[in-house]
Amino acid sequence: MCCDTERMSPMRHIIDFSDITMDEWHMLYKQCCDIISSPEDFSHVCSGKIMGSLFFEPSTRTNFSFRAAMQRLGGTVIGFADPQSSSVSKGESLKDTVSMISNYADLICMRSPVEGSAKAASMYSTVPLINAGDGGHLHPTQTLTDLTTIMQKRGQIDGLNIAMCGDLKNGRTVHSLIKALCRFKNIQFYLVAPRELTIPPYIRDLLTASGNKFYEVTGLDPVISMIDVLYMTRIQRERFSNMREYDRLKGIYILDTKKMKHARKDMIVMHPLPRVDEIEQAVDDDPRAVYFEQARYGMFIRMSLICSLSHLPRENGVLLPAGTRIKCKNPRCVTQTEKYLPKAVKENYGVKCCAYCDKELKAKK
Ligand code: NCD
Repeated sequence: MCCDTERMSPMRHIIDFSDITMDEWHMLYKQCCDIISSPEDFSHVCSGKIMGSLFFEPSTRTNFSFRAAMQRLGGTVIGFADPQSSSVSKGESLKDTVSMISNYADLICMRSPVEGSAKAASMYSTVPLINAGDGGHLHPTQTLTDLTTIMQKRGQIDGLNIAMCGDLKNGRTVHSLIKALCRFKNIQFYLVAPRELTIPPYIRDLLTASGNKFYEVTGLDPVISMIDVLYMTRIQRERFSNMREYDRLKGIYILDTKKMKHARKDMIVMHPLPRVDEIEQAVDDDPRAVYFEQARYGMFIRMSLICSLSHLPRENGVLLPAGTRIKCKNPRCVTQTEKYLPKAVKENYGVKCCAYCDKELKAKK
């Protein structure tokens, strides 16, 4: 089977779901359904192709999902899951690591704890680069996974009531998913988080500008009977600088069988995984719990994405324009460590933000 790369030509680096047009999403999803129904038709689509897999941060699901996806398409994988085993441990810059690996591979997937690192890396990659999660910022292939799961389980995305619950401040899957859902019609959002862990301001601005109805609440009980999709997330321990604060907030939301009794019969429970204690094990036996299937859909939609990107021609990266004196204040932004990067600014709904990590900037007088 041959992939429809021509129609995909505008799509190259996938830093966020916004790098994919809605036509491309529909095409990717359709191709994903074809893969699910006839995987054997796709088992040689990437034969001779190599994926570079750069995991600077621990991952089980996403790493294995990408590797399994490439191997099921007949391709091979090179790379590392532990930066200590690469030249990064010798002090190599992101730019050099990415320039090197893009000499050897036909596409790259990269995960890093550093926010904006995927955008930065894509500027130096001659092959398509997929963001497999950059710190607490974005995670577009989890979004593809989530949208695929909703389509498979509910048959549509438009018009749904969707609740997201947990660490909405640091959960990159939540940020990417909200941004994507704003491009569908009439989604009603219920954002369930403690005051300390609500969505970042740029996501709130986006929700306001999109005209979608959204409710920010602190309790799950009052909303559970109103929703079609419940997206649970864990409190992101590794993003806390103060462990006392983490200890105070962990375990704040626990979905149990008692709560599930109040939910709609056709509601689905999703979770990007790994789960800590926010969903009781007993909920796994409820047919509405779809989080393990969700992980499987993730592999199929990644197969669809890899199929389409790994055949694109090599091209030089495009640098962001050099900025002036504006410095990003986010201590986790890639510009803090990779000093050679052009300082660049973009506008999110009238607010000046770092072009890498989306953090709001305040210009120096
Ligand atoms: C998520 C992630 O890494 O952001 N997991 C994943 O990709 N499957 C969610 C999480 O770590 O909580």
